[in-house]
Amino acid sequence: MTTSDILRVTDSRTGRSYELPIVDGAIRATDLRQIKTSDDDFGLLSYDPAFMNTASCRSAITFIDGDKGILRYRGYPIEELARNSSFLDVAYLLLEGELPDKAQSASWSYEISHHTYVHENVKKFIDGFHHDAHPMGILVSTVAALSTFYPEASRVKDQQIERKQIIRLIAKMPTLAAFAYRHAKGLPYAYPDDQLSYTGNLLNMMDKMSQPRYQPNPVLEHALDVLFILHADHEQNCSTNAMRAVSSSGVDPYSAAAAAAAALYGPLHGGANEQVLRMLRDIGSVDNVPAYIERVKRGEMRLMGFGHRVYKNFDPRARIIKTVADQVFEVTGRNPLLDIALELERIALADDYFVSHKLYPNVDFYSGIIYQAMGFPVAMFPVLFAIGRMPGWLAQWQENSSDPEQKIARPRQIYVGERLRHLQEADG
Ligand code: CMC
Repeated sequence: MTTSDILRVTDSRTGRSYELPIVDGAIRATDLRQIKTSDDDFGLLSYDPAFMNTASCRSAITFIDGDKGILRYRGYPIEELARNSSFLDVAYLLLEGELPDKAQSASWSYEISHHTYVHENVKKFIDGFHHDAHPMGILVSTVAALSTFYPEASRVKDQQIERKQIIRLIAKMPTLAAFAYRHAKGLPYAYPDDQLSYTGNLLNMMDKMSQPRYQPNPVLEHALDVLFILHADHEQNCSTNAMRAVSSSGVDPYSAAAAAAAALYGPLHGGANEQVLRMLRDIGSVDNVPAYIERVKRGEMRLMGFGHRVYKNFDPRARIIKTVADQVFEVTGRNPLLDIALELERIALADDYFVSHKLYPNVDFYSGIIYQAMGFPVAMFPVLFAIGRMPGWLAQWQENSSDPEQKIARPRQIYVGERLRHLQEADG
């Protein structure tokens, strides 16, 4: 499409016609402002609650075609990346635009594995949380708290400083996550091991007891790596939008990433994997599935792990996850909840309600079952999602802050309240 594409509109209020350039299949919302009924009219707004049809940025990071079930990072299909790359290489790809060569990959992994420690005071901070504090609450708070340990991070325009914070955030996420987990368990914190892979080290910090050196199970280490690749970015989703919007104020990336993690926590977003598990437990047995589906159709609840704003055919991540699940179950044994999930999927995919609403299993439908089989408590699921998503948030933050068109994010509103009223003044 070229700039010669034009949208011609006629304002029925004034009879005037306007020509709005169409670029990349979009008109600029600010071009609507010239459409006025009088000189003092503010100009036409577009109204788009929940951003159903508004592009908030131009991005070269992730491409999704929701109708065809396509997901690509920097042009590479997710299926190929999941088969052939490591999570850290994918993180590099998202941030740098290209996959690293061997030397770049080695030095990138080295940098990440040498920034995994957190200040000892972070442990004291975590100690202050209640024993049953949700680990996602702990993660959100500790990610935000990192900004107080690295005050230089507020100098967001300095590229070297920016890069350092990116490394720290990717490196320290597993440490914060594992510390939150150990706190809930009442276990002493296990420190990072820089000889292990990114996911091997996470397993180490969560599971290590008295053994001198922890050896992660290679199948589980790899499965986690693939799951993180699948979660690494997903263009302008709720948490990424939070990352971009919050950082557009110029705040440091720790504070912005904490806001993104908070957005992810919600049950309609990254918290859905936790809700899927709770739902499968509630259903309890395969026999109860049809009755549960009927309740969903009556609108009593949503089928968690089903549906997506963008994917309307299938979620390619869910397909890859099913393969990972088989590998994991060979090690851990089959998760009994899998039978309920499979039956739920079978009945839902044949049911007119789900077909007509284009509701298919999303990434969260099976990820929780795998995490549970691997021994993670349910409350840790969104935390794992957050670890995987961090490189995406950071790549989007980088892109946003270097985009000359971006400014502080500040939507307009349509005011529908009282125009003007006055207080009843007391008589003199
Ligand atoms: N179960 C039953 N009905 C549903 C579901 C569901 N999971 N999702 C959507 N619908 C129905 C909804 O009731 C509505 O029906 P109607 O048009 O008759 O009123 C229609 O489908 C459209 O729903 P919507 O809420 O307008 O769609 P949305 O694009 O705003 O929501 C969603 C997308 C993911 C929030 C939603 O599908 C949902 O709540 N799913 C369950 C939670 C979930 O699994 N979230 C994880 C998303 S994938 C991971 C991530 O990227 O965060």
